[in-house]
Amino acid sequence: MPAATVLVVDDERNILTSVSRALGLEGYDVEVAGSAEIALDKIAKQSFDAILLDVQLPGIDGLQMLDELAKREVDTPVIMMSGHGTIDVAMEAIHRGADDFIEKPIGSDRLVLALRRSLRLRALQEENEDLRRRFGAGDTLLGQSAAIQSLREQVSLAARSNAAVLILGERGTGKELVAGAIHAGSARAGGPFEKLNCAAVPEGLIESELFGHEAGAFTGATKKRHGKFERAHGGTLFLDEVGDMPPQMQAKLLRVLQDGELERVGGGAPVRVDVRVVAATNKALEKEIEAGRFRADLFDRLNVLPLLVPPLRERPSDVPRLAEHFLELACETHDRPGKKISPGAMALLAAYPYPGNVRELRNLVERLVILTPGTLIGEAEARALLPTGAADPSQRYFRPETPIREMLEAAERDLITRALRYRDGHVTKTAADLGLERSHLYKKMRALGLRKPGGD
Ligand SMILES: Nc1ncnc2c1ncn2[C@@H]1O[C@H](COP(=O)(O)OP(=O)(O)OP(=O)(O)O)[C@@H](O)[C@H]1O
Ligand SMILES: [Mg+2]
Repeated sequence: MPAATVLVVDDERNILTSVSRALGLEGYDVEVAGSAEIALDKIAKQSFDAILLDVQLPGIDGLQMLDELAKREVDTPVIMMSGHGTIDVAMEAIHRGADDFIEKPIGSDRLVLALRRSLRLRALQEENEDLRRRFGAGDTLLGQSAAIQSLREQVSLAARSNAAVLILGERGTGKELVAGAIHAGSARAGGPFEKLNCAAVPEGLIESELFGHEAGAFTGATKKRHGKFERAHGGTLFLDEVGDMPPQMQAKLLRVLQDGELERVGGGAPVRVDVRVVAATNKALEKEIEAGRFRADLFDRLNVLPLLVPPLRERPSDVPRLAEHFLELACETHDRPGKKISPGAMALLAAYPYPGNVRELRNLVERLVILTPGTLIGEAEARALLPTGAADPSQRYFRPETPIREMLEAAERDLITRALRYRDGHVTKTAADLGLERSHLYKKMRALGLRKPGGD
């Protein structure tokens, strides 16, 4: 890793010298500036990994400099250096976006520690942002089918309201992504997004997971603990697989939704919470209600805004866009850059019915990236990996947004190839099987660009 570059801004020459020396010894590249004006000039020409900034400067002072950096959208971490009696100003600086401050006289240990901490924090933030960009919600509901476009519109409408949302859809269709997008697009985006998978938590623990507990509420509860509801205060609580919530919990959840108040396990005063609930399930809740496994009154509370995420097989035109996206991710994750999916392979991918929906497509593409040695993922690789038999045969030849003539041609090409292979490439026998004149079959083969496999 190249050395981090640090800009030191101070009007006292001896501070510039001593700080430069200390940082130089630690292997940092150091630049100095005797005023904020000079520093801003340097920042316009070069990017720094960190800035050490004196609070008191002639001309533009430390605080004004922070504002100036914000205005220019420079998000380099800043550590303030404060002289005696300027600690309040340093605190103010933290409020305005500085990362840290150190007091003069500056000890080199303290300086290096603060710098390292800032750089590490920034690296983590960048990593987080990157992860969010790649996997998170935001605007990543990809696809151009009419179905997904309408879903995106519903998501943004739902985001603008504060009402409970119930997301329905088969496994792997993107329900969690939708929930995240609703939160990210809402006025609560700055607040927490908490998630509870109701199917994954043991029945006995679900209540304390949701509502928290007081110390001593049960064996093992040594400390007071906040539940998901309290942690989601001011934000959104995503109740995943809500159809699997035990009936007893359903009653308690209903009460919180009605009253906006909860009680931790083990008693104590009721706690007011401001939480928006978004729930999801792949179960048909109406059936669960009929069977007496889900409360109708809770359903009504959760189902204010129902959103249906359609299965992928009903929107095959989304497959190419999604496949390209997952290809890029997989190439990066597995460090195999520049792989491409051939049009033939893409057509095969688009025609597959995906019982596991988008998640299955994602896994398939990842496997293709790992298993294809060259850069081009071709038809053969795709065919080898696509689960056969599971495919609905009518889907094999279907390609989204394609004239029927082309789909029939693809089907004919495939059928003749198979028939020829069955007869070891014997054209006369194949023609007889297919009920065609031998010359007619030859003509078709030429037209379809087929050569007979092996001799005749
Ligand atoms: N429209 C989309 N655009 C981009 N990525 C998507 C889209 N839909 C789903 N995905 C991705 O597919 C995967 C599965 O999505 P998600 O976990 O949201 O599905 P789910 O419906 O919650 O599944 P399950 O019912 O199994 O919990 C995730 O990696 C998600 O990022
Ligand atoms: Mg999910």
